[in-house]
Amino acid sequence: MNVQTLPAEAFRRYDETPDSDFYQIPRLVTHIDDSAIAAVTQLYREQFPPTARVLDLMSSWVSHLPSEIPYPKVVGLGMNARELAANPRLSEWVVQSLNANSTLPFPDAAFDACGICVSIQYLTDPVSVLREVGRVLTPGSPIVITFSNRCFPTKAVAVWQQLSDQNHLKLVAHYLHEAGEWDEITLLDRSPRQGKGDPLFAVTARRA
Ligand SMILES: C[S@@+](CC[C@H](N)C(=O)[O-])C[C@H]1O[C@@H](n2cnc3c(N)ncnc32)[C@H](O)[C@@H]1O
Repeated sequence: MNVQTLPAEAFRRYDETPDSDFYQIPRLVTHIDDSAIAAVTQLYREQFPPTARVLDLMSSWVSHLPSEIPYPKVVGLGMNARELAANPRLSEWVVQSLNANSTLPFPDAAFDACGICVSIQYLTDPVSVLREVGRVLTPGSPIVITFSNRCFPTKAVAVWQQLSDQNHLKLVAHYLHEAGEWDEITLLDRSPRQGKGDPLFAVTARRA
């Protein structure tokens, strides 16, 4: 599968109204169960150096970072100001639609780790966003992209809705390949309770 060859229709959504409308109402809920959240937290524990300046992209009121690690800086970017303001882990936050503007409002090499949790399926130009994430990370920094098998169906891109969990892993890996400058691209099934509860999949990589 070559993402560059995917037609534009692959990134269309059932709801093409501005994302700011859909995310106007704060959703102070969790989108995966506690065991799946613990799997995300464990990945961050393994991948993010304790000294990392962390970018939580497509953030809300929870970042799932390990509570015992006081990262020096955690910046959130998401769609809803009330969710972001309620997030106790964020030292700074910004509201921006990455589907309206994929340029991140940060200087080069401003961060040492990035997490994107249960959100990659909402990006209409994920390759441009991941290229931007590469720009704002220092060389060698980890990215951890996690997802489960649920989504807001009207806002997920068409290609996501047509693929299996295993092909979601391959799709996200291809996004990183197409973005360039990503090494050690690794596909993981970290589902905590196989066959029970929410599954949890991850693609990890390092900024070249
Ligand atoms: C299912 S929630 C996940 C939130 C959080 N990462 C978590 O793990 O609970 C999807 C998130 O994607 C963000 N999001 C959706 N569309 C976006 C866009 N166009 N630009 C930036 N963020 C977006 C929303 O703000 C929302 O917080």
